[in-house]
Amino acid sequence: MAEVVIVPDSAAGGRLVAELISRRIRTNPQFVLGLATGSTPMPVYQRLSALLAGVDVSSVRGFALDEYVGIDPAHSESYRSVIRREVVEPLGLDPELIHVPDGSVDGIRTAGADYEASIEEAGGVDLQILGIGTTGHIGFNEPGSSFASLTRVKTLTEQTRRDNARFFDSLEEVPRHCITQGLGTILRARHLVMLAFGDGKAAAVAGAVEGPLTASLPASAIQLHERVTVVIDEAAASRLRFADYYRHAYANKPDWQEL
Ligand code: F6R
Repeated sequence: MAEVVIVPDSAAGGRLVAELISRRIRTNPQFVLGLATGSTPMPVYQRLSALLAGVDVSSVRGFALDEYVGIDPAHSESYRSVIRREVVEPLGLDPELIHVPDGSVDGIRTAGADYEASIEEAGGVDLQILGIGTTGHIGFNEPGSSFASLTRVKTLTEQTRRDNARFFDSLEEVPRHCITQGLGTILRARHLVMLAFGDGKAAAVAGAVEGPLTASLPASAIQLHERVTVVIDEAAASRLRFADYYRHAYANKPDWQEL
C-alpha cells in the first residue's frame, strides 16, 4: 500500500520530498532522479536547490516524464526548457546527464525506444517524482493507457489541454500530442513519490490510492508498486476514505522507517 502523508500545504510537501531526495543524493552521488513538470513539483525543486547548495551533484542523472510533440524545444513551455529553468540551473546539475524525451516530429518513431534504452543504460530510476492530472494521468498517460505501456506518443485529452492552457497564450497553442514514459516505465522506478495539492485533485487522488485498479484511472497503477509515497494537502485528501488511518500511521511511524 502507498504511504499517504497529509501535509498542511504545498510548501510543507515540497520540504518533505526535497529533504528525502537530498538525503538520497548525499548517500548516492550517482542518484537517478525521475522528474515531473507542471506546477505541483515546483516547491520540491525550490527547496532542493537550497538543500543541495555545496553538495557535489555533478554525477546526478535525471529523466523527465514527458514532452510535447512538435513544440519548439526553445519554447519557454517545452518541458526541455522547463526542466532546464526549474531544475538543471537552480540545482546546478550537469545538463548532459538530464534527459527529456525528444518531441521533435522527425525522430518521433524511434524516440520512445531510445528513451527507454537511455533509462536502462543509467541503471533505472531511483526515485520518480509524479504529479497527477485531473483526468487521473501520471506522466501523460491518459485514461485507457496500458499498465504495461512504455515511452510512446499519446494524444492529450481536451481536459488536459484546458488544464495546461494556463502555461500558454491560448488553448489553441497547447499541443495535442505528447511523448510520455508509459505506466510500465514508471512502475520500474524503485520508489514513486506522487504529490497533489488542491481540491481539483481530490477525485483523481482517491481513485489512484483507493479506487479499483483500472486503465480508466491510470494513476491507480501506483497500487501495483511496492514502494509509493503519496504527499498531499488536506484538500487533495478530502475524498480519501481512510484518511484518518493514514494520519494515524504517519503520526506513529517508527524512527527507523524512512519515508
Ligand atoms: C508533467 C506530468 C503530468 C503532471 C500533471 C499535473 O510532467 O507528467 O502528469 O504532473 O498534469 O500537473 P500540475 O502539477 O500542473 O497540476
